[in-house]
Amino acid sequence: MLGIIQLLSVLVLVASSFCVAADLRGSLNSLNITASFPGDATYASASSPFNLRFAFQPAAITYPKTVEEISEIVKIGGEEKYPVVARSGGHSYIANGLGGRDGAVVVDLSNFGDITIDSAKGSAVIQTGNRLGDIAAALGKAGRGLPHGSCPYVGIGGHAAFGGFGFASRMWGLTLDTITAVNVVLANGTVARATDHNHPDLFWALRGSASSFGIVTSIEVKTFPAPPTGTIFQYSWDGLNATTASQIIATLQRFVQVNDIPPHLGGEINLFRGPVLGTISISFAGGWYAPIENLNATINPLLRQLPPTSRTSFFTGTYLETAENLGGGSLDTSAPDGHDTFYAKSLMTPENSPMSDAAILAYTTYLANQGFTAEVGWFIQMELYGGRNSAINAVAPEATAFAHRRSIFSIQFYSSAPNNVPPYPPSGFAFLDGLVDSITSNGPKNWDYGAYPNYIDDKLVDWRRRYYGTHYFRLRSLKAKYDPMNIFDFPTSIDE
Ligand SMILES: Cc1cc2nc3c(=O)[nH]c(=O)nc-3n(C[C@H](O)[C@H](O)[C@H](O)COP(=O)(O)OP(=O)(O)OC[C@H]3O[C@@H](n4cnc5c(N)ncnc54)[C@H](O)[C@@H]3O)c2cc1C
Ligand SMILES: *[C@@H]1O[C@H](CO)[C@@H](O)[C@H](O)[C@H]1NC(C)=O
Ligand SMILES: *[C@@H]1O[C@H](CO)[C@@H](O)[C@H](O)[C@H]1NC(C)=O
Ligand SMILES: *[C@@H]1O[C@H](CO)[C@@H](O)[C@H](O)[C@H]1NC(C)=O
Ligand SMILES: *[C@@H]1O[C@H](CO)[C@@H](O)[C@H](O)[C@H]1NC(C)=O
Repeated sequence: MLGIIQLLSVLVLVASSFCVAADLRGSLNSLNITASFPGDATYASASSPFNLRFAFQPAAITYPKTVEEISEIVKIGGEEKYPVVARSGGHSYIANGLGGRDGAVVVDLSNFGDITIDSAKGSAVIQTGNRLGDIAAALGKAGRGLPHGSCPYVGIGGHAAFGGFGFASRMWGLTLDTITAVNVVLANGTVARATDHNHPDLFWALRGSASSFGIVTSIEVKTFPAPPTGTIFQYSWDGLNATTASQIIATLQRFVQVNDIPPHLGGEINLFRGPVLGTISISFAGGWYAPIENLNATINPLLRQLPPTSRTSFFTGTYLETAENLGGGSLDTSAPDGHDTFYAKSLMTPENSPMSDAAILAYTTYLANQGFTAEVGWFIQMELYGGRNSAINAVAPEATAFAHRRSIFSIQFYSSAPNNVPPYPPSGFAFLDGLVDSITSNGPKNWDYGAYPNYIDDKLVDWRRRYYGTHYFRLRSLKAKYDPMNIFDFPTSIDE
């Protein structure tokens, strides 16, 4: 039952919602915090998402210059009842860096671009305005490396908040596995440094679900000596029928579990539209972070079980040069970033119940037929999280909030609108949903597959379970402890 005090505060809230826009602008201006508001000349570009399937209208996009300013912004958001979200690289698949809906206060971190490297200690402090390309370049020049994805423009803020997979991850883990401390502004405006010893429960939650718990201003990470040489490889098979394609995938799935593959082998199976109806094309691409002379001893036992390749390609260089190669030739992020108009889904396959042969065949059959005629462009990446000797799976499932330590593949299903511009066609949703269904409805019985929260999907109904598994319950109680007013609120924030 509502008491009179609560009733009054509800009335005050309703009344104040008529004048909040003026309050917000006034509050931020009085603190001299740079911001862009609806109607400002800067607003259209400031609020433009990477994925043009979305067009959200934040209440303000702020550009704090100090941690103290971030603290003030969070307090203003709390007082004036705005959801507050961080934006690092802005590459959320569903524009969660803009709030994932209208009306958020965005904390843009572009003024937080420092990277401090201590090669002797093997550590670095990385502010969250950095993009992966800047980090790889700075560490590479110092002879160090960090596991992370390959696209230079992806921001470290979101990437490290939810995972961070790259070809070095079987060797070094996910990005979030390298974090030793998180510097964060909490919901009450307090600036905290979370570690194994200080707020250990918060430190746990920040490694897998950071955005629900605070605005991370920097992460302290351990770095690795860059391998002196590495090779980016690709083995390709063009225009296969569904049966042959399914056999390649099934063989690879078995190979990585049975053979003693070394941790310095990382990779993914890529699937593409085939040249004619009834076909698909496949590649096995990855990184080999050791002398190329030793690659064949690991790969040839696999190739002997597969049809002859149509093509192969190998790029050998220093670790930094392999990162540049994966980044499309350059790690530079000074030019403006591009956009896409897309819908993506993901599926993480558990090690103890691999994809069944029936599921793999249903999937390749769907791609060879519906995939050929689809109105959307598409690709699929089956990223290798598991297999023997994987550093990702060496971490205990309970050690961080990342919930999928015992996966073989993290599969990304990605589809783009024709010419990559809006509108995204409705047939694309049906195509991708049917594709994932072809696997899950033929998978092992009661299959407890997961989904990757960095490939975030606005149509995934049971996202709490798929992203977080049983970790969701602990996250929920920590949310009640650290953000009881739900200030860090977006469509897939920890909530109930
Ligand atoms: C082209 C492309 C390539 C990709 N490649 C890979 C890959 O190889 N491997 C991989 O694992 N993933 C990959 N991803 C997925 C990527 O990791 C996620 O989209 C990631 O969340 C993007 O982070 P961001 O900072 O750029 O995005 P943003 O939109 O800025 O943020 C994403 C989410 O994190 C939150 N967030 C951002 N910064 C902070 C912060 N400082 N504190 C708290 N919360 C924060 C935001 O509020 C939002 O909810 C790729 C994505 C794209 C678009
Ligand atoms: C407000 O910020 C601007 C730009 O950063 C700066 O030049 C100015 O001195 C600041 N004013 C005050 C009162 O702090
Ligand atoms: C698929 O291709 C393989 C190899 O070319 C061939 O042997 C097989 O008969 C084909 N299967 C079907 C169903 O067409
Ligand atoms: C690896 O094996 C392939 C055949 O599978 C051969 O063509 C290539 O020369 C070998 N590479 C090295 C470095 O031995
Ligand atoms: C803010 O929240 C943190 C975490 O719950 C707590 O430790 C701290 O004391 C709070 N600070 C204030 C000023 O209430």
